[in-house]
Amino acid sequence: MSNNTKRRLRSQDWFDDPSHADMTALYVERYMNQGLTRDELQSGRPIIGIAQTGSDLTPCNRHHVQLAERVKAGIRDAGGIPMEFPVHPIAEQSRRPTAALDRNLAYLGLVEVLHGYPLDGVVLTTGCDKTTPACLMAAATTDLPAIVLSGGPMLDGHHKGELIGSGTVIWHARNLLAAGEIDYEGFMEMTTAASPSVGHCNTMGTALSMNAIAEALGMSLPGCASIPAPYRERGQMAYATGKRICQMVWDDMRPSQIMTRESFENAIAVASALGASSNCPPHLIAIARHMGVELSLDDWQRVGESVPLLVNCMPAGKYLGEGFHRAGGVPAVMHEMQKAGKLHENCQTVSGKTIGEIASASATSNDDVIKPYDEPLKHRAGFIVLSGNFFDSAIMKMSVVGEAFRKTYLSKPGEENTFEARAIVFEGPEDYHARIDDPALEIDENCILVIRGAGTVGYPGSAEVVNMAPPAALIKKGIDSLPCLGDGRQSGTSASPSILNMSPEAAVGGGLALLRTNDLLRIDLNNRSVNVLVSEEELARRRVDWQPNIPESQTPWQELYRQLVGQLSTGGCLEPATLHMKVIARSGPP
Ligand code: FES
Ligand code: MG
Repeated sequence: MSNNTKRRLRSQDWFDDPSHADMTALYVERYMNQGLTRDELQSGRPIIGIAQTGSDLTPCNRHHVQLAERVKAGIRDAGGIPMEFPVHPIAEQSRRPTAALDRNLAYLGLVEVLHGYPLDGVVLTTGCDKTTPACLMAAATTDLPAIVLSGGPMLDGHHKGELIGSGTVIWHARNLLAAGEIDYEGFMEMTTAASPSVGHCNTMGTALSMNAIAEALGMSLPGCASIPAPYRERGQMAYATGKRICQMVWDDMRPSQIMTRESFENAIAVASALGASSNCPPHLIAIARHMGVELSLDDWQRVGESVPLLVNCMPAGKYLGEGFHRAGGVPAVMHEMQKAGKLHENCQTVSGKTIGEIASASATSNDDVIKPYDEPLKHRAGFIVLSGNFFDSAIMKMSVVGEAFRKTYLSKPGEENTFEARAIVFEGPEDYHARIDDPALEIDENCILVIRGAGTVGYPGSAEVVNMAPPAALIKKGIDSLPCLGDGRQSGTSASPSILNMSPEAAVGGGLALLRTNDLLRIDLNNRSVNVLVSEEELARRRVDWQPNIPESQTPWQELYRQLVGQLSTGGCLEPATLHMKVIARSGPP
């Protein structure tokens, strides 16, 4: 369709339908009471939703409340009419039991708004971890023209002359606290210094990773993900995003043209080079499933595992969001990937340019922050996908795994490539906190900490708890991390060597439920396997004794969620919601 062909838009089915004058009158009169004129509403101009994820309850996204004014200015200048509306809050750092519970709820709510209201396109305001996948999942299901406006990271944190990153500082400071090197006051002072401004986490945690993925998918304007929240460019990006969505509506440019199988592969490649959060695999798979694109953990292994770590940001490296932005952000990473032949260049983006066009114009200005593909921080640093005799799949983020582990992973035939560890099993985070310092467990450096009951059903949403700290006594001896394993997730800001997202989870009868403390686990990273050294007969005996132990739901949504949710390996989606429903946005009023 040519760029400026005026055609009847979806919103006119509400606002200008003489054959249903009574309904049209109802729709028009109540929107007029906010000062809009009948002429505006019946002018045939695009009505653009602004899906507002910011609020006092979601501090990482709160500045979107102000940014929306710049979005509205852009929409108006491009001839559209903005309508801002709230999205269910998702605050990663404060939502109990876990913000993951809200991703699918916000998704459902947003789908209903995009389907049921007179909108021709939508600006998705994203930021804090799950706000980005929730918005992209809804854009996928409805296939309404949509563009992402990231909120951007906070300014870099500093403490006593050192760069400190959100989240990452907490995992470090909790060890100092356990070792008695700082007290509660010192702990609070150090950790809160990581948040010097508005914005989301300044580390390459889930928020920055997922916004970078949105950009790599082609769903935001080039450079959008990394602009720090307080920079003037953020407001300018908001304005440009508002302008652009109007043209996208006239061009009928929809998510299904942008989020294709090839663009998901681009997102995996870029995420791997970023040292992205271990939450990205389930989120990306969820977005793809709602888009009707087949994507699985095998694709993360196949496309991402061999990709080197290029981005030198915490937790895998040393810089933070401001450094990443100044070095060129996502387009500069894509530039390196393009040179190495690791990008599908023809993928479309919301900007109207292809990924290849954006990448070729975007060399980094600082190759200590964004490394050349041939001289990376680490080779083969994507996610690996493991399996074993008591589970089907789990992931490990190789960009943060220490050298001892990596040696076994990168070993050659004949070299030592397995290690064995004694399992210490915890029934969820409360049990871990109650017992980790119990001397009777005799935890030493040859142990692996195991946590279960933390998957999508067990701890509804799935808890970010697998990165467990060793007992204080061990930390005092200088052992500040142990391998961990579990059916929960871990924070994207953590550098813990963990085997995560184990599926199926213990709560639904996965073999993890059968492990016992002091079982030996044999881990072979080279062959991507983890096996418990217990006979099949013994596991079968334990299975007979096993009783499901799912705690009671505390709210109606927790109960519904548990009944409908799948495992992390397939995105933690509400399974009935993944039936493909692209027709929605093409329809008029329901
Ligand atoms: Fe919101 Fe990290 S807690 S982005
Ligand atoms: Mg998190």
